[in-house]
Amino acid sequence: MPSARWAYVNGQYLPHAIAGVHVEDRGLQFADAVYEVCAINDRRLMDEEEHLDRLERSLRELDIPMPMARASLKLVLRELVRRNGLRDGIIYLQVTRGIARRDHAAPSGLRPTLILTARPVNPAVLAARRQSGVIAISHPDERWARCDIKSTALLPNTLAKTAARRQGAFEAILVDGEGYVTEGASTNVWIVTKEGEIVTRNLSHDILPGVTRRVILDAAAEAQMRITQRRFTLQETKSAQEIFLTAATLGATAVIELDGSPIGGRRPGPISQRIQSLYADLARRRAIPSA
Ligand code: PDD
Repeated sequence: MPSARWAYVNGQYLPHAIAGVHVEDRGLQFADAVYEVCAINDRRLMDEEEHLDRLERSLRELDIPMPMARASLKLVLRELVRRNGLRDGIIYLQVTRGIARRDHAAPSGLRPTLILTARPVNPAVLAARRQSGVIAISHPDERWARCDIKSTALLPNTLAKTAARRQGAFEAILVDGEGYVTEGASTNVWIVTKEGEIVTRNLSHDILPGVTRRVILDAAAEAQMRITQRRFTLQETKSAQEIFLTAATLGATAVIELDGSPIGGRRPGPISQRIQSLYADLARRRAIPSA
């Protein structure tokens, strides 16, 4: 059973502790890079095709070539799961534009850098978090105008998340200049209104098209549950019956307190729980064993 941690950088599997990139990699110098985060559940890569679709889209939007053919990338993902002996965990995949002498203008023809790291996650910790629910704060959305691209340029997200953690909260729910919720610092946000309407923000340049969000929409359609995709304000969020967050690393996890006010009696509500079980079921059915 392998126990050492392995990373993959540009064609080489390396011990995690010594894996690194060049000092003039544009990912390091400018955050000129995109990423994906994929959960491993029972040795399976969850929502793999959707993550690779979004990776290709992010790269296309920034005119960065795919670092290798998709089929080869899938083999590398599987090998990394195997080498790390991961049963449950997370894979982080980053593609930067490549290495060049520092200049804001990107030269053409660079060879993209591919970085993959992996780490185990204790599924009991995720389950306990889903059972208890989490605390959130609201925070101004101070990001750029292309939040649909999964760029590693995450400074506003990390500042918001750090502010949340300092206040004892798990997530920062971002609010745009008009008072509408965009998404979480690293999650999509959903509400269930007092009338029972399940709402998540419509896709645009303002939010990341979450893979978990996408799969939940499919699972809900299968179960003939109606979901509305529209903007909703922070005010509406605070008076919601339920709030939940979705991400590859979380599934659907309920928010039980927002800005100090209890949501749904400080307990995860039935819709959040139903959505999580529909998501887990569909994602598992779609996943192919990786090792
Ligand atoms: N974050 N919105 C933002 C800003 C995100 O960073 C993420 C994911 C999501 C949810 O997307 P998905 O369902 O595809 O994971 C929404 C990952 C987990 C991260 O940065 O660690």
